[in-house]
Amino acid sequence: KDSLLIETLKPAAIFALKNSNAPYSHFHVAAAVLGASGRVYTGVNVENASYPAGICAERNAIFHAVAEGEKEIEAILITGCDEEGKQAYCPPCGVCRQVMREFADPKKLKVIVLSEEGEKIYTLEDLLPDSFGPEKLQV
Ligand code: THU
Repeated sequence: KDSLLIETLKPAAIFALKNSNAPYSHFHVAAAVLGASGRVYTGVNVENASYPAGICAERNAIFHAVAEGEKEIEAILITGCDEEGKQAYCPPCGVCRQVMREFADPKKLKVIVLSEEGEKIYTLEDLLPDSFGPEKLQV
């Protein structure tokens, strides 16, 4: 089942990677999200001359999914590379982990990170234990 997920998300992320806009860090990242509807969404890191205005690939992919109507995500695959196209390991940053938390059950969301050794498969719970999510706000 995980192999099917990887077969679905990996080509989408690798295809998107060429669109990463990283003229400052030269660290290119792409992510592919599987929404609950079964549709796949991609995102890349988009940097800015005003550095903090840039955004990570993971958040870009998740916000893309949400903009297209998804309320829940089931999996996210992340890949990175350097300027020469050499695979770079890119586990998601803390802010992106928190954004994943907003749209997924931490025990169910699969976070797949590509590396030169293959794929690492986590649940969001592994990466963000005892997390703060929407159900904690009684509003
Ligand atoms: N980056 C991501 O896109 N995802 C991560 O999880 C970590 C970092 C991007 C942000 C910035 O454009 C570049 O990688 C270097 O930090």
